[in-house]
Amino acid sequence: MSRVALVTGGSRGIGAAISIALKNAGYTVAATYAGNDEAAAKFTEETGIKTYKWSVADYDACAEGIAKVEADLGPVEVLVNNAGITRDAPFHKMSREQWQEVMDTNLSGVFNMTHPLWPGMRERKFGRVINISSINGQKGQFGQANYSAAKAGDIGFTKALAQEGARAGITVNVICPGYVATEMVMAVPEKVRESIISTIPVGRLGEPEDIARCVVFLASDDAGFITGSTITANGGQYLT
Ligand code: CAA
Repeated sequence: MSRVALVTGGSRGIGAAISIALKNAGYTVAATYAGNDEAAAKFTEETGIKTYKWSVADYDACAEGIAKVEADLGPVEVLVNNAGITRDAPFHKMSREQWQEVMDTNLSGVFNMTHPLWPGMRERKFGRVINISSINGQKGQFGQANYSAAKAGDIGFTKALAQEGARAGITVNVICPGYVATEMVMAVPEKVRESIISTIPVGRLGEPEDIARCVVFLASDDAGFITGSTITANGGQYLT
């Protein structure tokens, strides 16, 4: 029987590419989304991947949503914490709301999704938790004190939890994508975006599939000895 993979923010952007790549690799995939019903319906129609609506920022909604996915598809063995938002502003203009929204989704969201799934993974002695952080959690970014803090938090979370999961057959890893051609990056003002691209040695934005391939590898049985790792996929823009 195929393994069940749950991808948050899995119907658009990098998440959509991850959902599709996991499906193509033989997983039964559930994708969550928070707001865009139209995009989710179109995604399901095109790919046959089931979508579920809830906010990862809401712990109770995560627990209820996960229970529904598991009732429909079976125990979730692969969790991809991909959902994320930006609320960019220079710090002197950043509001408490902009700070809090990003922390709630990009950092607490990872806790909220992983925590309800953890006991089952421990009992079954198998699990794959793959967190999607960012180059900007590694190097920081002007205008992203909130986002960089949350994404750096995801890296620390990964390293701590990897140690707790190791004996239970659960690997926990984090991928740090660089600038990838998605709506989120396209929302950056063109001049700023062009100047960022000029600092990427490979000379282009990443493709969502560049990140999806990393996820498929980390989810596989072949990657069982890799845990607590940070995989950097950024076209050489920042070398760790
Ligand atoms: N370093 C130093 N100074 C900078 C700067 C930088 N990187 N970017 C802007 N500034 C300066 C500007 O030159 C300007 O200075 P002057 O007033 O002296 O001309 C000042 O800061 C204000 O700049 P803006 O007019 O652009 O300010 P703003 O308030 O309109 O916008 C911003 C600021 C929202 C941060 C905008 O610059 C921006 O969107 N930057 C891009 C941030 C970014 O890279 N976000 C990533 C989104 S994609 C993502 O997050 C995915 C991922 O994981 C990679």
